Amino acid sequence: MGPMRPMGPMRPMKTTVALPCPKRPLDASQISLTKNQIVRLSKGILKYLCIALENNRKEMKSILEGRPALKAEIEKIAEVAGYLWQNGWAERNGGNITVNITEYADDELRQLPAISDVKQIGITLPALKGCYFYCKGTGKRMRDLARWPMQNGSVIRILDDCASYVIIADEAVMPTSELPSHLIVHAKQIEKGTGYKATVHTHPIELVAMSHNREFLGKDVLTRILWSMIPETKAFCPLGLGIVPYTLPGSNELAEATLKELEDYDVVMWEKHGVFAKGTDVMDAFDQIDVLSKSAKIYIDARCMGFEPEGMSDEQMAEMTRAFNLPR
Ligand code: 13P
Ligand code: ZN
Repeated sequence: MGPMRPMGPMRPMKTTVALPCPKRPLDASQISLTKNQIVRLSKGILKYLCIALENNRKEMKSILEGRPALKAEIEKIAEVAGYLWQNGWAERNGGNITVNITEYADDELRQLPAISDVKQIGITLPALKGCYFYCKGTGKRMRDLARWPMQNGSVIRILDDCASYVIIADEAVMPTSELPSHLIVHAKQIEKGTGYKATVHTHPIELVAMSHNREFLGKDVLTRILWSMIPETKAFCPLGLGIVPYTLPGSNELAEATLKELEDYDVVMWEKHGVFAKGTDVMDAFDQIDVLSKSAKIYIDARCMGFEPEGMSDEQMAEMTRAFNLPR
């Protein structure tokens, strides 16, 4: 074997096809191409179309341009996505965020054509007619969304049948597989006029670990442990942590169970999977999970040091309820 030649820069593949070059106007019946030439010609055309489409996409402006309030909202989502990743709660594509952005949908945005075909939600939610949501894309990573929110999520418009939607911007990124859970909760917030605009699902390590102990899954057992670790948890998560028994991710059953449990609690635990929170905005939803997670860490740290933490007494917790006028 002779000496290896150093590899030069890759040359682009030749895709040109030699066509007859007549001086007179071309008569199509005179063109005869071999099968191989037709294949190469088709590949060339396809490549040209792909480049043209990509250039067109790059030139298209984002819906965030000229909409500073919407841009600020999306930047908040990106910031929270970064926190989820930094906390170790968002392995691979783990977790999802959706935010009701209908208040930012001006006439121009409402006129934007669909960039996807019509997709079914799986449930009918009349309260969502004509609403707009930013949704994390299914399979997309939080750590990528933190830097490029409009390439790792998309804005959808709920159609008049209240059972389907289309993607309108910026790119045709398919929304999260947990869309039924998110939308069913958003619909309830609109019906009740709570003003909650954001929902977050994530996989916090310590909280999920605790959901593997059946003893903790009894009604309010985990809530009481977490509240008693630090006064702020009761103050900022005053309804506590509800429990949804293990249910298939992405299913309508999970959506319905989540909705039911969120009637009584601030945040719900999806047993052996993750947590789901609603909030006035995405920061608020994140804060509630963060506060619960902090308590879970304190509990586990105490157990790791070899003792059962004492926890605040019933009287100390009742004092918090009175002092901060808490609902429970
Ligand atoms: P998606 O990538 O579809 O958002 O799913 C992530 C997840 O956590 C499912 O529960
Ligand atoms: Zn999940």
